[in-house]
Amino acid sequence: MEKNLASEPDRNQITKAILLVGGKGTRLAPLTNHTPKPMLKVAGKPVTEHQIVKARDAGITELVLATSYLAEVFKPYFGDGSKFGLKITYAVENEPLGTGGAIANAALELDLEPNESVMIFNGDVLSGHSLQSQIALHQKANADVTLYLTKVVDPRAYGCVPLDEEKRVKAFLEKMENPIADTINAGCYIFRKNALQQIPVGEVVSVERDVFPALLSKGAGVYGYLDTNYWIDMGTPQSFIKASRDLLMNPHLSSATKGVVGEALIGSNVQIHPTAQVGGGSVIGDGCEISEGVSIFGSMIGENVRVGSGSQISNCYIAPNQEVPDQSVFSDQIIGE
Ligand code: GDD
Ligand code: MG
Repeated sequence: MEKNLASEPDRNQITKAILLVGGKGTRLAPLTNHTPKPMLKVAGKPVTEHQIVKARDAGITELVLATSYLAEVFKPYFGDGSKFGLKITYAVENEPLGTGGAIANAALELDLEPNESVMIFNGDVLSGHSLQSQIALHQKANADVTLYLTKVVDPRAYGCVPLDEEKRVKAFLEKMENPIADTINAGCYIFRKNALQQIPVGEVVSVERDVFPALLSKGAGVYGYLDTNYWIDMGTPQSFIKASRDLLMNPHLSSATKGVVGEALIGSNVQIHPTAQVGGGSVIGDGCEISEGVSIFGSMIGENVRVGSGSQISNCYIAPNQEVPDQSVFSDQIIGE
């Protein structure tokens, strides 16, 4: 009798993932004083939701949220994941364990087969990279770890990751002053179980400063998947505003925003004067009043904001409940909070 191949699990498919969402988001304070960075909304949805939907679309069926700072905020929104089409569990660190410690702690929630691999995501990155292609390289190379890399003009704020011709990672140099390559860690890893087991459990460990250098010095198979499609780390005020603008203007970047993309995303009970102009990937929160002659471009306006007449706002974030005086001119700024 013929074997029914369709019912066999695809050994190359990766179905489990960890999302690192426990950082303090200090560079985004005061916005992160009461909301963890990954729960800040871009294009009307929390960053975490954009990432979860992308992971699900790539075949992830079980995901652990590795939380610490303001951990209690995630569960009421994501629940058991059923609303988002996958299973979500929570690994809470009472004291932050660092990126490596968080991965080891979250991995305890997953029941892994001996040779199984897991996807791990930084919680503040939005990307247009192909998870399937990253997985394909990982499986073809039989890698222990495969890192998603991108290129930036100034790599100093990132993990600098030089590659050899076989796509093997030569070094991992976190936030170095004089970067030796323009390829950087883009914050999405695949770890095979044996590599995960190298991370000590219950200790403060950095995946970037401790785990990667240790794996490389032991000669582990660490590969880099370079993909220069859209990429953004929304950890600074400017990149946070830009991420929202980009997602609205480029609908293909996130399927979490289906049906809400375009020049502007307007909330409910919003009054916009007919002479006002709103566009360039702006979000206008519920209950806002946008007065005569106002122009708003590429900006996020929180709920119940009143923007006085003649004001010009471009590439800004305005916190909820603010009163923007008439004739204000703001650009590239965070206002209020
Ligand atoms: N659970 C948990 N516990 N999560 C944490 C912890 C922790 O102790 N510390 C940080 N995180 C999470 C953050 O919430 C964030 O989602 C992710 O880990 C990365 O932390 P960031 O603070 O955003 O790091 P970064 O942007 O300076 O650098 C990292 O990302 C770059 C790419 O965006 C590094 O991985 C760099 O190598 C990389 O280039
Ligand atoms: Mg970051």
